[in-house]
Amino acid sequence: MKPLTEQIKQKPWLGWVIFLATVVTVFALGMLASSILERRAEAVFAYTPQVKYSQFEPRNEIWGENFPRQYQSYLQTSDTSFRSKYNGPAMIDMLEIDPRLVVLWAGYGFSKDYNQSRGHYYAIKDLWNTIRTGGPVDERKSPMPNTCWACKSPDVPRLMNDIGVAEFYKGTWETKGHEIMNPIGCADCHDAKTMNLRISRPALVEAFERVGKDISKASHQEMRSLVCAQCHVEYYFNENTTGAEGIPYLTLPWDNGFSAEEMEEYYDNLDFSDWTHALSKAPMLKAQHPGYELYTTGTHASRGVSCADCHMPYISEGGQKYTSHHVTSPLKNVSNSCQVCHRQETERLVRDVYERQDKIIGNRNKLEELLVRAHVEAKTAWGLGAGEKQMRDILTDIRHAQWRWDYAAASHGASFHSPVETGRVITTGITIAQEARLKLARLLADFDLNEEIPYPDISTKSKAQAFVGLDMNKLNSEKKEFLETVVPTWVEQAMERESNYPVETLN
Ligand code: HEC
Ligand code: HEC
Ligand code: HEC
Ligand code: HEC
Repeated sequence: MKPLTEQIKQKPWLGWVIFLATVVTVFALGMLASSILERRAEAVFAYTPQVKYSQFEPRNEIWGENFPRQYQSYLQTSDTSFRSKYNGPAMIDMLEIDPRLVVLWAGYGFSKDYNQSRGHYYAIKDLWNTIRTGGPVDERKSPMPNTCWACKSPDVPRLMNDIGVAEFYKGTWETKGHEIMNPIGCADCHDAKTMNLRISRPALVEAFERVGKDISKASHQEMRSLVCAQCHVEYYFNENTTGAEGIPYLTLPWDNGFSAEEMEEYYDNLDFSDWTHALSKAPMLKAQHPGYELYTTGTHASRGVSCADCHMPYISEGGQKYTSHHVTSPLKNVSNSCQVCHRQETERLVRDVYERQDKIIGNRNKLEELLVRAHVEAKTAWGLGAGEKQMRDILTDIRHAQWRWDYAAASHGASFHSPVETGRVITTGITIAQEARLKLARLLADFDLNEEIPYPDISTKSKAQAFVGLDMNKLNSEKKEFLETVVPTWVEQAMERESNYPVETLN
């Protein structure tokens, strides 16, 4: 081959080609370098602190002095004006909308009161207000343990640090009410020095540890979901935790896996039940909110999309990009939540969400009706003199069918996060509920009862509550007394304590 200079002498255009190729390459390299630098500037989060406080500072407004944009957007979780077809932060009384729930939870706190979740700003207020925590005044105790505070406040990591984890869970709910004052906030998810994402709840770390996973090694993108998994997960109170016997220790039932079947097996092996159903006497499980677990089975999770990508999108304001801390329904803000990845029109994306929800909720309603019937039929069988042995299989079926319904229903957002798995779980619930009712029909026939047991009149919340034998007047007046006499003393004690926290003004 001839040397290059000779080749160019023969074909001058070749020189121009090499020259242009070099220009393009240098330009592209320059662009790449500048984009890398830009990304790096984004990655290193720089700020000038106005105040200095400890990791366990629970007051969001103090952190907010250093991070006004994030704090202002966090405050918007107090806005309750938005309501989508099924969700959103508006106050929605679920028992009023769907009185069947009262029957499904008969004998358990949720049949007294259950509202759709609102923004993080309301976490403390809503827990004070719900009838489920009771009206503890003087000697009258709350029916709930302190463990219920665990997913409500940055006062939780503070107090756990002060007194220890097991000691935190110990005792009934009213005994630590004066300690837990600030709603879900900065210290729940952030390291105070670096502002890196941080896991503040031991239950999540412990659950991963038991299956040999160390989440301190989680990637940045995984952390953008794991901070939510501190609370939006299934859990139960385990009174047999080594070293904390007799204390309702917050535990995630993940040892066998995340699926409805795997958690059901976990609970069955422990013979654990949350309560005994008031009508059917079945040993029931209450699913809490396995939101993270179901999300991991969906398309978005498998493509690496995190909770924060949709619920905490980036916002640009005056040339500055920051993370919106207005955690709410993404349908309130489709352009930032979805359209950064999808090119479809807003209307189309909203329709995608509603279509999935409509289809799943249709089947879920059918399963609810079957469960109401099964509970009522089981009660009838007991009334006719059925024995424990004849009922055992039936009650196990009712337990499993309702667990699957609740696993799907309580995983807020699951019909969008993971429609196929959610639909599958509901289908298995329908099958099991029907099996229970077949067995019940045979048993009732043995007692010469061959007619359909009438469906109860539960057309409103109050009719359903009367049907399961709840005295709501008493519960409401106890709650009122608690809110008027106890809560103000809690607020006073908290203000007194917080006035002594060390906060240093720097500028
Ligand atoms: C791909 C986007 C996307 C991802 C990822 C995502 N969500 Fe959602 N989420 C939605 C949509 C859409 C809804 C339905 C909102 C509605 O119906 O108004 C929703 C609903 C919810 C709801 C119920 C909202 C309400 O108003 O009651 C909660 C809670 C929730 N998601 C939490 C999470 C958590 C926790 C994760 C991660 C484990 C997560 N989401 C991941 C898009 C997403
Ligand atoms: C539920 C968890 C959660 C809570 C509560 C929370 N944050 Fe964040 N925060 C995040 C996530 C997720 C990011 C994105 C982090 C990332 O990708 O590196 C973030 C990012 C930030 C950043 C980095 C800059 C930016 O905008 O991306 C700052 C500063 C910040 N948050 C401040 C706050 C303050 C102040 C509060 C309390 C008012 C708060 N955060 C409460 C989860 C939380
Ligand atoms: C410390 C516990 C905790 C953490 C951490 C947490 N949540 Fe929540 N979340 C709650 C509670 C409790 C509620 C219900 C508050 C109420 O109804 O008063 C809630 C409500 C919500 C809602 C309903 C809000 C609405 O407007 O309808 C969404 C959506 C949500 N959370 C998503 C997330 C996402 C996404 C993350 C992670 C970035 C997260 N949460 C982290 C406890 C938590
Ligand atoms: C960070 C990027 C990202 C965000 C944000 C995001 N998506 Fe997606 N979405 C994806 C990816 C990736 C897929 C999978 C597409 C594929 O592999 O072909 C997907 C798939 C989907 C699908 C089809 C799969 C299914 O579950 O049926 C729908 C519908 C969808 N997204 C709607 C939404 C909506 C609505 C939002 C906002 C609430 C949203 N997405 C937010 C990246 C995103």
